[in-house]
Amino acid sequence: MSAAARPHRRDAQSLRSRTWFDSLEYYSFARRAYLRSEGLTRESFQGKPVIGICNSWSELNHCNIHLRTVAEAVKRGVWQAGGVPLEFPTISLGEVFMKPTTMLFRNLMAMDVEESIRANPLDGVVLLCGCDKTTPAQLMGAASADLPSVFVTGGPMLSGQYQGKTIGSGTDMRKLFDLYRTGELSEEGLMEVEECSARSHGHCMVMGTASTMASITEALGMTLPGGAAIPAPDSRRLALAEQCGRRIVGMVWEDLRPSEILTRQAFENAIAVDMAIGGSTNAVVHLIAIAGRLGIDLTLEDFHAISKRTPFLANLRPSGAYLMEDFCYAGGLPALMKEMLPLLHRDAITVTGSSIGENIEDAKCFNQDVIRSSSNALAPEGGTLVLYGNLAPDGAVIKHTAASPHLLQHRGPAYVFDNYYAMLAELNRDDLPVDENTVLVLKNGGPHGGPGFPEWGHIPMPKVLLKRGIKDCVRLSDARMSGTSFGTVVLHITPESAIGGPLAAVQTGDEIVLDSANRRIDVNLPEGELARRLAAFVRPKPHYHRGYGKMFLDHVTQANLGCDFDFLRAVKKPE
Ligand code: FES
Repeated sequence: MSAAARPHRRDAQSLRSRTWFDSLEYYSFARRAYLRSEGLTRESFQGKPVIGICNSWSELNHCNIHLRTVAEAVKRGVWQAGGVPLEFPTISLGEVFMKPTTMLFRNLMAMDVEESIRANPLDGVVLLCGCDKTTPAQLMGAASADLPSVFVTGGPMLSGQYQGKTIGSGTDMRKLFDLYRTGELSEEGLMEVEECSARSHGHCMVMGTASTMASITEALGMTLPGGAAIPAPDSRRLALAEQCGRRIVGMVWEDLRPSEILTRQAFENAIAVDMAIGGSTNAVVHLIAIAGRLGIDLTLEDFHAISKRTPFLANLRPSGAYLMEDFCYAGGLPALMKEMLPLLHRDAITVTGSSIGENIEDAKCFNQDVIRSSSNALAPEGGTLVLYGNLAPDGAVIKHTAASPHLLQHRGPAYVFDNYYAMLAELNRDDLPVDENTVLVLKNGGPHGGPGFPEWGHIPMPKVLLKRGIKDCVRLSDARMSGTSFGTVVLHITPESAIGGPLAAVQTGDEIVLDSANRRIDVNLPEGELARRLAAFVRPKPHYHRGYGKMFLDHVTQANLGCDFDFLRAVKKPE
């Protein structure tokens, strides 16, 4: 069904904003009068849908720095379609600036988005996001507010360029920084990398968390087709924003809401796409949280089952060779989804008013090395593997496509860091007693332990190993990892160590067994020893005693449940 063919379910009399503006009682009069202070005449808003533009622009979030320009393009579209655009700010979460981690504040931003939408005279919303957490936070907030909503993600940066080579944010920066640590790259060389790795506005341009969440937004059907991959400075992004501005007005008349789009089928499509793009492990946590806002119980087993049947097709760093700019020119997500269409629910409805299948009918792939066909897949299965075992009774994840194949079956002695700061203090020790068989273990990196579930799980390689030319070893933690990172890294071990999960009991020298083939992560201890150690566990003192931090610690759920607050999940209505 085309957008034009969808029936209108609303008229001007039933607009939500009307209850704010359209009466002769005092407060309606006062609201209209105060709106005049913005220079709007009565004709501007009478009988027209009011469209909020929820903007996460901030100079403290470089990835979203262009979103004011994007907002202007959205406004053009809204006016063209007969709506009234009103832009409003929310908090923004700049990934590389915020301490201890943006993840601590994802739920706070989601609450800000939800309540800003709900409290104001809006009929529909266009949400502008980009950096890692702004996208899931807005998806969570919009899902809970459930007004007609469409997303414009900010788009990836242009590819980095260094001495004739393309470099990807995060991924190549980490590799080059390791060369600097071992003295193979000079300080001047490092400065050159610093100048040319982030050449434009936009989010990280590898298939890191921001690109993953943008792709997931498109796969869920919450933005227009092709929206995920267009580079941020490409004029087509502003054209897309204008189209979204026009489309949201139609969505208001059609009363097409997130609850109609974000169905279980849509989430299964998003998981399949996440697997086919080799997406960030963070997507697991975010998707579970977003689904929870609709009362949909996504589990780690959903990810496992879909991963098993989904080939890895997008040849993008950190798991592959190319960058998001190449992905866009190759046809972007529509081309990829067309390739995997038999694995998708093609009837899932999207913001266009048409189904996913209809949206991508005419999509073409222009570079089959970037977007592989199923018969030439990079791997037969998806990028994220879910593990269990005596170390992770409630689950853990590993991005096995970004791991070293020879380490995916491994046993070796643990070297334990009790926390992130202990790890930082030791990594450059020339006498650190580790070798290529060592399993590096980081504790206290989970939602309570970090606090906030920071991206510490990558655990930089110890200098002593880098000097020996060893670029990877098995690493495990209850923390997350940046989507731009790589290596044989087991993450999100649940329950986390700070609340007495089994990881808390691991000691340096214990044998750790990673058995990816059987989806297991275990510590090899004599019968009863693990239980004995855990019986003596003493919970660390909480990081916060007041304010938002205390609310976070009191209500955050564990990684396998999405780390949303327990009270923000959808309440199941009584039968
Ligand atoms: Fe914002 Fe990478 S720092 S997406």
